[in-house]
Amino acid sequence: MVAVRMIEETNKHLPVMLQEVVDNLALKTDGVYVDATFGRGGHAAAILSKLGPNGKLIAFDKDPIAVAFAKQRMGSDPRFTIFHGSFSTMQKQLEKLNYFGKVSGILLDLGVSSPQLDEAERGFSFMREGNLDMRMNTEEGIDAAEWIAKVEEQELAKVLFEYGEERYGRRIARAIVEKRKELPITTTKQLADIVSAAIPRWEKGKHPATRSFLAIRIAVNQELEDLKKGLTQSLEALEQKGRLLVISFHSLEDRIVKRFIQTGERGEDFPAGLPIKYDRYRPSMKRVGRAIKPSEQEVAENPRARSAILRIAEKLL
Ligand SMILES: C[S@@+](CC[C@H](N)C(=O)[O-])C[C@H]1O[C@@H](n2cnc3c(N)ncnc32)[C@H](O)[C@@H]1O
Repeated sequence: MVAVRMIEETNKHLPVMLQEVVDNLALKTDGVYVDATFGRGGHAAAILSKLGPNGKLIAFDKDPIAVAFAKQRMGSDPRFTIFHGSFSTMQKQLEKLNYFGKVSGILLDLGVSSPQLDEAERGFSFMREGNLDMRMNTEEGIDAAEWIAKVEEQELAKVLFEYGEERYGRRIARAIVEKRKELPITTTKQLADIVSAAIPRWEKGKHPATRSFLAIRIAVNQELEDLKKGLTQSLEALEQKGRLLVISFHSLEDRIVKRFIQTGERGEDFPAGLPIKYDRYRPSMKRVGRAIKPSEQEVAENPRARSAILRIAEKLL
């Protein structure tokens, strides 16, 4: 009962660019679709509402609470299946269902959901005092507290600089390593305070710990590795003319998505003489339209949508 009540209390997540997603998936009533990041199912519900009795929606989420929510809300719909785990396991799961290579559309709505950010005990937010967890999948891997306790200073500085684009990465890493000698860093507030004190000049309108929290979250959840695997598998999972839609929320993710589509458009470059199949040189997808951003009205109604960017590609081969 506790689990169900918790889900009810934390079920608010406004799906970003919902209409744009539905329009660009070009839904066919009997198609097979993948929602790779179920969250609270806003996009999933809209997709299901457009499918006929023979349509299918296969969903994934790393977060056990999102999966429990999905089962509670949509589990009785025979057109719907959800897997607990990363979308980087998509190939394996779709092959089991015999849908690999037959999917009409895939949505990756990256990052964290509002309930994950809003629940203090998940540890994603520097605005809320909570345990420093930050894992989307609370059933595997090490949490942020353990990661911070073990990471080498150089590696930490690199993560802060590369994933958070934090120019004071080295100073922050030094401060964290010094502080953890005195006391384990186990709460969001401790980390936010250490980071804030280590930064000499704060960016206007931005909490000083924003970049560091993002960077550590990306590292703990291996988000960029998952994204690269997820994109490659998505392309292979699609049928010809199938659509891939990706919503990203920061420049690092968006760059990976943009480059993936660009590479697919021109075909991969291989050094001459390698025994590569001819297919690999040919374009495997084409970009559909320009990148889409949420309307001013959507951002006013849902400020968390402000940094979202939607890119769409269509499979050619
Ligand atoms: C922005 S929310 C998705 C919101 C969803 N579209 C909706 O309408 O409610 C992102 C979700 O994706 C999940 N997630 C992030 N990376 C994932 C991955 N690699 N594999 C599976 N789920 C992932 C998170 O746990 C979170 O629930």
